Amino acid sequence: MASRVRVAHISEVEIGKAIVVHVGSRRLALCRPAADEFYAIDDVCTHDGGPLGEGELCGYEIECPRHGAHFDVRTGEALTLPATRPVHSYPTVVEGNEVFVELPE
Ligand code: FES
Repeated sequence: MASRVRVAHISEVEIGKAIVVHVGSRRLALCRPAADEFYAIDDVCTHDGGPLGEGELCGYEIECPRHGAHFDVRTGEALTLPATRPVHSYPTVVEGNEVFVELPE
């Protein structure tokens, strides 16, 4: 069973950018690669804890600002070294102008 949590108004996330949102004890990178596309991944890089939500978003790839690993924001897959393990990704839903993330219980 997942719980749906509102994380942002769509206007809070520029197209082609990511922001950091806090949901309970989690820190998520909410990414908007295109006007109507939102993806949420953990904000903590699996290499050394870098803040992914502060990285550059290019298409569906976000670059960790600490050592430059790339992750696919759609799946959380680690695409380049030095990261080798994926980050968690979370389903998102847009209702009206609000973005929700579905979190596992
Ligand atoms: S902490 Fe992200 S690449 Fe090192």
